[in-house]
Amino acid sequence: MKAPVRVAVTGAAGQISYSLLFRIASGDMLGKDQPVILQLLEITPALEALKGVAMELDDCAFPLLAGIVQSDDAKVAFKDADYALLVGARPRGPGMERKDLLEANAAIFSAQGKAINDVASRDIKVLVVGNPANTNALIAQRNAPDIDPRQFTAMTRLDHNRAMAQLAEKLGKTVNDVKKMTIWGNHSSTQYPDLHHCEVDGKNAAEQVDQSWYADEYIPTVQQRGAAIIKARGASSAASAANAAIDHMRSWALGTDEGDWVSMGIYSDGSYGIQEGLIYSFPCVCKNGDWEIVQGLEVNDFSRERMTATETELAEERDAVQHLLP
Ligand code: NAD
Ligand code: LMR
Repeated sequence: MKAPVRVAVTGAAGQISYSLLFRIASGDMLGKDQPVILQLLEITPALEALKGVAMELDDCAFPLLAGIVQSDDAKVAFKDADYALLVGARPRGPGMERKDLLEANAAIFSAQGKAINDVASRDIKVLVVGNPANTNALIAQRNAPDIDPRQFTAMTRLDHNRAMAQLAEKLGKTVNDVKKMTIWGNHSSTQYPDLHHCEVDGKNAAEQVDQSWYADEYIPTVQQRGAAIIKARGASSAASAANAAIDHMRSWALGTDEGDWVSMGIYSDGSYGIQEGLIYSFPCVCKNGDWEIVQGLEVNDFSRERMTATETELAEERDAVQHLLP
């Protein structure tokens, strides 16, 4: 058996975490041979509810669960953490855009970035789930100057999974037939699901669908799926968000499948002309615990327009939180 790794999760008494923690503890995220110590962060008023979640984790008798830490102190929760899933943040309600949460949530991520910088493992892998995820990841990253910016990522895997499912359904296939999906940009209604490099049954996806369906139905459906869930459920997505967080971390830690890639919000190095330093979703392959942007994809005018629109939105969000970016 391997030595345990430390996995910090914030917002640990919230609805996403209620689906997430049990799957981390059962080995879905890091493998069935990897023991984990869960280091759970909550705000003080939620510590009692967190205690209940920890009791339920105990009651599962997970063989891989090597310990549980519960705290309202970020320096305790991130101490020596190898992985951090930053979930704790306010969710949006009906009629809101995710960037409307910026004011309420941004301060959380500057404080947590600082705490990660101070006490976490230097090799920590950070995934930001709390919205607006890309800009919150940027805030955390910029407040952790001693950690490589590549180690701060934002979740667009839920969008990636949604895009695969919608496409498979349209073509009467299953998600197993869909490869090389790409979400470019922001986890917001400007995100761009790109079918030009995607393959279904080994054949180009864009060529298998009608252009008007792609532009007028598919892209808006994927972009607006979060809002549609809120409308139907009365609360934002939780189990599917937790599932995507598991997928994101597993791909990053254990690698992507040969001949396929995933979408990750990552530190832009200027690839595809995207401003350096934004946390932008790119197609990525992962190997040996590291990610690389898939290079050399052709970008046509249709794609460029949409990639730029979502880049512009991210630059605006960044400019709105300048005071939190040292
Ligand atoms: P929730 O309200 O059920 O839970 C959030 C939890 O975070 C609460 O228990 C709260 O007490 C806690 N919290 C608040 N501030 C905190 C802090 N400073 N430190 C630690 N914990 C803190 O919300 P949820 O449904 O679990 O959603 C959490 C976030 O994830 C929201 O911002 C939501 O919009 C976002 N989200 C993102 C995606 C994505 O694809 N990126 C998908 C779904 C939801
Ligand atoms: C989602 O995409 O489901 C989440 O970001 C929640 C939301 O606000 O849409």
